[in-house]
Amino acid sequence: MTAEAFDLIVIGGGPAGYVGAIRAAQLGMKVACIEKRKSLGGTCLNVGCIPSKALLHSSEIYEQTKHHAAEHGIIAKDVKLDLSVMIKKKDDVVTSLTQGIDYLFKKNKVTRYVGAAVIMGNGVVAVKKEQGEPESLRAKNILIATGSEVAELPGVEIDEDRIVSSTGALSLKEVPNKLIVIGGGVIGLEMGSVWRRLGAEVEVVEYLDEIVPGQDEEIRKAFRKTLEKQGIKFRTSTKVLGAVKDKKSVTLTVEPSKGGAQEKITADVVLVAIGRKPNTKNLGLKEAGVELDDRGRIKVNDHFETNKKTIYAVGDVIAGPMLAHKAEEDAIAAVEIMAGQKGHVNYDLMPAVIYTHPEVASVGATEEKLKEKGIEYNKGKFPFAANSRAKAVGKTEGFVKILACKKTDKVLGVHIIGIQAGTMIAEAVTAMEYGASAEDIARTCHSHPDLNEAIKEAALDVAKRAIHI
Ligand code: FAD
Ligand code: NAI
Repeated sequence: MTAEAFDLIVIGGGPAGYVGAIRAAQLGMKVACIEKRKSLGGTCLNVGCIPSKALLHSSEIYEQTKHHAAEHGIIAKDVKLDLSVMIKKKDDVVTSLTQGIDYLFKKNKVTRYVGAAVIMGNGVVAVKKEQGEPESLRAKNILIATGSEVAELPGVEIDEDRIVSSTGALSLKEVPNKLIVIGGGVIGLEMGSVWRRLGAEVEVVEYLDEIVPGQDEEIRKAFRKTLEKQGIKFRTSTKVLGAVKDKKSVTLTVEPSKGGAQEKITADVVLVAIGRKPNTKNLGLKEAGVELDDRGRIKVNDHFETNKKTIYAVGDVIAGPMLAHKAEEDAIAAVEIMAGQKGHVNYDLMPAVIYTHPEVASVGATEEKLKEKGIEYNKGKFPFAANSRAKAVGKTEGFVKILACKKTDKVLGVHIIGIQAGTMIAEAVTAMEYGASAEDIARTCHSHPDLNEAIKEAALDVAKRAIHI
């Protein structure tokens, strides 16, 4: 039987794969997308960004109603949690969004295949289905967008019951009395926040001497303090040596990262969140001769092309931050390049957000990075405690910090900790994409009373002329 022919076969239906497939179809290509999950959307929609944000939102409502409604004169007695309803609501959000991608595929005439893809060489890809013979497809170009999977910790075997990855942590059947999170990164703190708000005691064990490594130090310190105030405990500079499970609990043996006395800590549930690794297994990469880099990611040039002409790769499976918006930008640039256009991604201005309360959002250089590079800068800072909207809604924690070049005033980095920092950072990204100076932001009219006025004031503070502090 002859293989069905396409211009492009996309392997993986996550933010990289589905967005790449749609953009390629818009550019006139005949596109197939092979996804082994039954639903489209990849990690992001099924077990990542979306369900975690749904639970963050629901758990925030619970926490606010239970502990803070009275501050607003709202008397909510006997507030109770029905966890199964909360989890179902999250699942419904996921279903509705993943089905939305099916609709977008139909609208854009992307042909969808359900099954595991294996690259066979010479433009042929086999689709291994749950039942029946594999199907062969052929295309001029192949775009690998197979994403990433949970990184495992030797000695702490994930069973998605007592020892869970982020996937299990999104669907716990009851609120644990105690949750130990291994890894003080984004997943650990977002999921730790969810379960803390729902009533669990949460302790985070982090190998390094700091949480969220890579963030601006001032932000990191403020963030840790605020999470501690919420009741999350941190055990930094600590190594987990192994886990022993019984029916009800898990006991971890830990010791200081630099060596020292061992200790045992016990919890009902342990979440392993020490990072993710590229998903390159069983794809036929070795047989096809596609090269990986030293960290097991698919190696691509700045056109997203592997060492094999006509095979491209994007998203979590290549180098760069493992973020959904990065995956989407990669994919759009890659297919535009295939179509002869000048696709481009500005990795220097890739925003990153932690969706806790308060949120943490950043773009561009940290203060530490600027010092390391010997770049002289001015710093403007504005606290939400002096922002009228933050005051009005009673969420005054945090600040905006803007770093601008001492010589040119060009904005080099923006870091925000505070309510809705994730939404606010978009203003900074746009300004920086256009090469804005701090004065440009300071002279831009901002609506009142809005949280974004804190960005304007921080920009004014770069020249030490903020109005409200
Ligand atoms: P994926 O989304 O992993 O998609 C790859 C797809 O390829 C998968 O569906 C997989 O089934 C499929 N696949 C793999 N191999 C094959 C094969 N051989 N054949 C067919 N299909 C295959 N990022 C953010 O930007 N913001 C967030 O708030 C955020 N929250 C997150 C929360 C959690 C709990 C997690 C785990 C991640 C989060 N991320 C977030 C990261 C984000 O999910 C990823 O960066 C993003 O999904 C990467 O997209 P991708 O398309 O490269 O890969
Ligand atoms: P991460 O890289 O953010 O954090 C992992 C943390 O674990 C680090 O602090 C690291 O020092 C620590 N660690 C590593 N090995 C350890 C060990 N053996 N013992 C103790 N600590 C250890 O990874 P995380 O949180 O698993 O997230 C994976 C990816 O998903 C990230 O790259 C992130 O970008 C993405 N993500 C993004 C979100 C967002 O944008 N809001 C939300 C959730 C995930």
